Amino acid sequence: MHHFLQEAMTAARTAAEIILDHYHRHATGQIDKKGAADFVTQADRAAEEAIMDHLGRKFPDHRFLAEESARDRTGGRRWIIDPLDGTTNFIHGYPMFAVSIALENDGQLLLGVVYDPLRDEMFAAQSGRGAWLNDQPIQVSAVSDPLTALVATGFPFRNRDKIDLYLAGFKRVFLRVGGLRRAGSAALDLVHVACGRLDGFFELGLAPWDVAAGTLIIGEAGGKITDVGGDPDKVYSGNVVGGNPIIHEVLLEALQPAWPSDKLPTGTL
Ligand code: IPD
Ligand code: CA
Ligand code: CA
Repeated sequence: MHHFLQEAMTAARTAAEIILDHYHRHATGQIDKKGAADFVTQADRAAEEAIMDHLGRKFPDHRFLAEESARDRTGGRRWIIDPLDGTTNFIHGYPMFAVSIALENDGQLLLGVVYDPLRDEMFAAQSGRGAWLNDQPIQVSAVSDPLTALVATGFPFRNRDKIDLYLAGFKRVFLRVGGLRRAGSAALDLVHVACGRLDGFFELGLAPWDVAAGTLIIGEAGGKITDVGGDPDKVYSGNVVGGNPIIHEVLLEALQPAWPSDKLPTGTL
């Protein structure tokens, strides 16, 4: 295994220890508001600091795009970090959250890890080499009949003015698929698509740190992930559709009439 990947996993586990320590003590630390219904806790900040500290010491010339503290926009090697994806769940003790870390070089994803500390599940991928859950290779599901598909989504709680737009897309998907879920961690939704627990995913208004690692993991597991227009290079627009190749196509067809590009949220960065 490449040592970049090894260090990403070590950083993710270090962050997870901090998060679990808070979780098991029912102590989120101070909760601050970043926006309407958008929270950050001491656990988020401490986890991010631990990840950046570890990777910064190992790779002093790498740069960071990290949710709570770093906005490097230059090229070269850059780590994209969501220290705690699913903060609202974490605050409530709802057991769905994860650490997400990706590394890109000049905008090309090299590796991604998403670690679910409560289940001790380490999802990982390396560009061109496949995707794994712990040590086992994973692949997307083979479900082809939309009516038997299980699909996840996320609500646009940061873009509340988009609720009618969102619901128009939601309705079209709802009427086509077998089941819809909203668990509250986009990073986990994406890796659950990658390992075939889910068959598809769609959400508006995500940030690069929500999707970077999961994007590579889905791609390496044989799935597809794009923006609503179907462009794989525009995932960081934040308006994201993923799935096994068949259900991905079904979701695009369902969503595109309801979600014209000029009405969608613009990217976070
Ligand atoms: C959020 C979660 C959630 C999604 C939001 C994200 P955070 O991340 O992934 O599922 O609906 O759009 O921002 O804020 O908990 O890191
Ligand atoms: Ca997130
Ligand atoms: Ca986060």
